[in-house]
Amino acid sequence: MAETKTEHSFIVMANRLPVDWCEGAWQAAPGGLVSALAPMVKAERGAWLGWAGGFDETVAPFEFDQMSLVPVPLTQAEHRAYYEGFSNGVLWPLYHDLIVAPQYHRTWWRAYEAINSRFAQATLRSAAYGATIWVHDYHLQLVPHMVRLLRPDVRIGFFNHIPFPPVELFGQMPWRREVVTGLLGADVIGFQRSTDAENFREAVRTFAADADSPPPLIDAFPISVDTDAIRKAAESETVARKASQIRCDLGDPDILMLGIDRLDYTKGIPHRLRAFDELLADDLLSPKTTSFLQVAVPSREGIAAYQDLRDEVERLVGRINGRFATLGRGIVQYSHHSYSFEDTVALYLAADVLVVSSLRDGMNLVAKEFVTARKNQGGALVLSEFADAADELEQAIIVNPHDISGLKNGMHQAASLDVARARERIASMATTVEDRDVHHWAQKFLAALQPASPLGPASGTTATEHRDRTPQKVTSF
Ligand code: G6P
Repeated sequence: MAETKTEHSFIVMANRLPVDWCEGAWQAAPGGLVSALAPMVKAERGAWLGWAGGFDETVAPFEFDQMSLVPVPLTQAEHRAYYEGFSNGVLWPLYHDLIVAPQYHRTWWRAYEAINSRFAQATLRSAAYGATIWVHDYHLQLVPHMVRLLRPDVRIGFFNHIPFPPVELFGQMPWRREVVTGLLGADVIGFQRSTDAENFREAVRTFAADADSPPPLIDAFPISVDTDAIRKAAESETVARKASQIRCDLGDPDILMLGIDRLDYTKGIPHRLRAFDELLADDLLSPKTTSFLQVAVPSREGIAAYQDLRDEVERLVGRINGRFATLGRGIVQYSHHSYSFEDTVALYLAADVLVVSSLRDGMNLVAKEFVTARKNQGGALVLSEFADAADELEQAIIVNPHDISGLKNGMHQAASLDVARARERIASMATTVEDRDVHHWAQKFLAALQPASPLGPASGTTATEHRDRTPQKVTSF
């Protein structure tokens, strides 16, 4: 059995570990972030810190696929206050333009501080002298400062996977100064878009202008997907067979539209269903030849806003089917499940049109995955201007999901796009994504964090002066 190292020179920290407990064993959790970071953690014999998924149990650190996984325990009450409460009942809606109202409960804030402190303590135990620590996402914004206070020797990077709001919205939060100060403990703070980075700089000027630490590097590092893995799956026979089976099971429609999202109010699922309903009612799409497949991956089911959304989506699906379905053939196929990576790629191959109608979205990797999987197959992507992916996927049919008429036009245009033209557009977007895949993203971020490494500082940064506190350890990434 491999010896478990307790001190590491490279540490990744996220709310969740990169594994799921399935049928009595740990299995790699699917996802681009894991496939980008796992090889780096392995190469450095590094560690990944995160919650293991269970409650009220202490799982000892363990080795998985050449990574040291360090579980950070949560009780059910802590999960409710820190994860469902502060992270997803305050930060998530506040950072997504207040689509639902945040609830600024002080008990949730105290839990958030306590759990961030627990993550910071776990890091201190795991970090070797001069280690590189990469903290991910909004759940852990206080960790950089907490670690920095006790360990001036380490390099700390923070990447926010979701948007960072304008200062007028962010300023609502009673603990705005603490959050900004927490992040300022990092050497590099990365966001999806330059607008997010600018919003954060403005929050620093407004709420922490007197911060005594030198300014960190603050910049945009748009995340991407593992294009090699997606292309490989898309070219496999098993996946191609699954894709044909999906189409066949849906009655072989002429046009299959797809929505695939976590069941989250940021995704604008009701908006796209309403637009589809009207397209059928207006005879612009025929219920005989068109189907809509909506995959809604269960998410955060303990939170009332998510339960309400589920009711609304299911009511809309029922209404459309009640109105337009014929015996034996539903018009909207709705599935409230998660799917394996291979099945997801099969869904991309089966569909003609993907509809991404997010009201606000950090990146939307589904859009990037869809064009990658369909590089040689064509198809059409309807993409919200409020998903950050719209910055790069300029050849998508860009829509404002709040404008139902515009969304209808976009979906109608997608259904009637000239095949050759559609193929060109998808291929060109796939090339854009391939050129800047998730490995490129991770390397660019780490090069900014490790300016002394052979990769050097990230190019094109608009950052303020780069902080350089300690002699740098050169790593191989
Ligand atoms: C978003 C967040 C991630 C999070 C994921 C799934 O993409 O940026 O940090 O892991 O949603 O949400 P969950 O609450 O299930 O972790």
